[in-house]
Amino acid sequence: MAGPVTVGKTDHWGSRFGFIMAAVGSSVGLGNLWRFPFTAGENGGSAFILIYLFSVLIFGLPVLMAEYALGRHGQRSAIATLRKITTDEKKPKAWIGMGWLGAIASLLLFSFYIVISGWVFDYIPQSFSGAFANFSSEAELLNASIGQAVSEINSQITTVHLSSACAFVSDGIITQVAVMVDGQETFRDITVGDVSGCRFAETTSNKLEVFAYTAVFLALNVFILARGVRGGIERAAEILMPAFFIMLLGIVVYACVTGDLGSAASFLLTPDFTKVSFNTVLAAVGQAFFSLSVGSCVMFTYGAYLTRETSIPKNACLVAGADTFVALIAGFAIFPIVFAFGLDEAGGPGLLFVTLPIAFGQMPTFIGAIFFTLALFAAFTSAISLLEVGVSWLEDQKAIGRVKGAIGLGLVMLLFATAYIFRGDLIDHADFLSGTVMLPLGGALIGIFAGWIVPRHILETELGTGPHLKLVLFLLRFIIPAFIFAILITGIYAKFAG
Ligand code: PFF
Repeated sequence: MAGPVTVGKTDHWGSRFGFIMAAVGSSVGLGNLWRFPFTAGENGGSAFILIYLFSVLIFGLPVLMAEYALGRHGQRSAIATLRKITTDEKKPKAWIGMGWLGAIASLLLFSFYIVISGWVFDYIPQSFSGAFANFSSEAELLNASIGQAVSEINSQITTVHLSSACAFVSDGIITQVAVMVDGQETFRDITVGDVSGCRFAETTSNKLEVFAYTAVFLALNVFILARGVRGGIERAAEILMPAFFIMLLGIVVYACVTGDLGSAASFLLTPDFTKVSFNTVLAAVGQAFFSLSVGSCVMFTYGAYLTRETSIPKNACLVAGADTFVALIAGFAIFPIVFAFGLDEAGGPGLLFVTLPIAFGQMPTFIGAIFFTLALFAAFTSAISLLEVGVSWLEDQKAIGRVKGAIGLGLVMLLFATAYIFRGDLIDHADFLSGTVMLPLGGALIGIFAGWIVPRHILETELGTGPHLKLVLFLLRFIIPAFIFAILITGIYAKFAG
C-alpha cells in the first residue's frame, strides 16, 4: 500500500458561510427527507427517534469532529491523509485501508443515491402537470363506477392484493383491495393512498424515464465537481441550501395545519420501548451516520478544504444541529399526512413518494413541484460530497484532473445505477450494506484511529484543548468502538437469524 505522500490541497473554502452551506448541504439530503421518516416509521417511531438523537450526540458528533480534524491536518483526500499520517507518525499502514473502506462505502452510497434522486426528479414534472391533484377524484371514480357496474351486472366484487392492484387501478378494473392489518387480511375500498402508491409504482417501473432522470442528475453532479471546490461545490451549496430551508418550513406549517398533527405528535413523541430491538438500535446508529455523512471519510475530504481560522467543534455542532432539525421537521411534514389519510406508517422506502403527493394534490400545483425541486437540491449537495471522495483521490493520488476524474467516475456510477433501475430490490441491499453496516463500522474505526493511534497533539491543534477535547477523546476511544461493534455484531446476527 506504499505510495507517494503527495502535496497538499491548494483549493479551500472561500468563506465560513460557504463551508457551512457545503457541509450542511452534504448532511441534509435524502437521508433526512426520505430515509429518516421511513426508517423511523418501520421502527416504531418515537423510541427510534430517541435512540437516534442519542446516536447523533454520542456517536455521530465526535466522529464528525475527528473527520474534520484529520482532514484539515492532512490537507489531502481521505486515503492520502491516512497515508500521510501513518507515514509521518510511523503508524501501521493498514490504517490506510480505513480510507479505502470509506471510499467504497461512499461510491456504493452514491450509486443508489442517484437513482432515488432520479425518482425525485421525475416527480417534479409530474407535480407541475397536476398529476397529484386527481388522486381523490380517481379513487372516488373507481369506487363509484365499480359499485355501479356491480349493481348493473350483478357480478362479484373483484378482490386483489394491493401489491398487484396498481396496473388495474388505472384501468378501473379493481373494486377492492386486500391489505394486511396486524397480520390479518382485510378488504376495503380503494383509497387516495392506494392511487398515490400506484402512481409511485408506475413511476419506478418506467425504467427508461428513471434512467434519463438519473443520468441528467449525475451529469449535473459531474459538471459541478469538475468546476472545483470554491467555484463548484461551494457556489452550488450557497444558492441551493438557503432556498431549501425556506421552502421546507412552509411545507411543515402546511402539513401541521391541514394534517393529523395529534396522531403524528404521539407517534413521534411518545416512546414505545416494546418496539425496540437490536435491529432498531443498529438502524438508528446507521441513520445517524448516514444523515451526518460520517463514517465514510467524506468529511475528511471536506475538512481538507477548511481554513485554519474555522473552529471545528463549533461548526461540527452547527452542522449536526441543522441536520437533526431538518430530519425532525421532515417527520412533522410527513406523518401528519400519513395519519390523516390512513396510510401505513411503516410503508418503507416509498413513504415520501406516496404520502406527500397526496397533500400536494390539494394545494396549488407549483407547491409540490417546488418541494420536489428543493428535495432534489438537498440530494444534489449530498451526492456531490459522496462523489468528491473519489474525484479528490484521483486528483491528488493519480494526478487525474477534476474534469477527467469526475467524468470517468460518473460513467462507472451510471453502470451501477442502471443495475438498480432494473433490479429495484438491490437498492435495499446496497442501502443496508453501506448505510447500516459500513458507515457505523467506518465510524468505529475512525474512533479507534483518532482516539488511540493519532498523537494527541494533532487533535489538540485541530480541536483546541479543554474539557470538550477530553469528552470527545473519551467517546472516540471507549464508547464508540465498544458500542458500535456490539451493536453491529448483534444487529447483523439478529437480521439474518430473522
Ligand atoms: N447525509 C446525506 C443525506 O442525509 O442524504 C447522505 C450522505 C452523504 C451519506 C455523504 C454519507 C455521506 F458520506
